[in-house]
Amino acid sequence: MSEALVTFKGVVAGYGGGDVLKGVDFAVQPGGVTCIVGPNGSGKSTLLKTASGLVRPRLGEILFKGQNLVGMTPRDILKLGIVQVPQNHSLFREMTVEQNVELGAFLERDRRVVAERLARIREMFPIVADRAQDKAGSLSGGQQRLVEFARCLMLEPELVILDEPSMGLDPKTLKVMFGTIRMMRDAGRTILLVEQNARQALKMAERGVVLENGQVRLTGSGLEVLHNPEIGALYLGGSLEEARHPQS
Ligand SMILES: Nc1ncnc2c1ncn2[C@@H]1O[C@H](COP(=O)(O)OP(=O)(O)OP(=O)(O)O)[C@@H](O)[C@H]1O
Ligand SMILES: [Mg+2]
Repeated sequence: MSEALVTFKGVVAGYGGGDVLKGVDFAVQPGGVTCIVGPNGSGKSTLLKTASGLVRPRLGEILFKGQNLVGMTPRDILKLGIVQVPQNHSLFREMTVEQNVELGAFLERDRRVVAERLARIREMFPIVADRAQDKAGSLSGGQQRLVEFARCLMLEPELVILDEPSMGLDPKTLKVMFGTIRMMRDAGRTILLVEQNARQALKMAERGVVLENGQVRLTGSGLEVLHNPEIGALYLGGSLEEARHPQS
């Protein structure tokens, strides 16, 4: 087995009102999509935030290529190549699409490098070229999401963290969005994804993780998690009756 890119070890974290994560252990392998599913309030977003430094664990370690992220600032974590696309829309609405995308490379001082990256991003994301001079606020929600993906790739991150990127997208845009996640994966990024469209996400994901009440309940390939009868019943729209009598 290859060495993990990120390893969560006994991660305990919360917001002051008690622990939300109650000892989380799992590893994100390099390359591919790792998809976390679980009921509302199980701690999925909190878990992602511990990896990007927005929530600091009370106990445990998060090792990124062997280096402990716990205690680092979000900026230092970004510099290591871990970038999170936030759940809510985060573009500067009054700035143009291109200006927003360029901002993604704010850690890179060499203008030539920024220009080269922008050229590649324009090829990957036609909207960045087509709507370059339009204000970001004039784009639809789905288009803004794609520009947010484009912006995060300007840092050439090793790990891309996505929290419910399909939130609020219509079915057609949803398809484009999932296609874009595949494209980022195929471009060599490792993706850590939380997705409410769990069925669709697990089909695409190399690996699945089920989080329940702040602990990892199950890990496996995306399809193993998808076809686990109990998980299907609990989180993917089946019924518990079906889980108990899968063939009936
Ligand atoms: N900023 C915060 N301050 C206090 N409590 C919070 C905060 N953010 C989340 N919580 C609480 O932590 C628990 C886990 O929330 P979290 O957002 O991690 O769950 P989730 O699995 O992402 O849920 P959802 O599927 O609804 O997005 C919930 O009980 C929530 O109310
Ligand atoms: Mg959440």
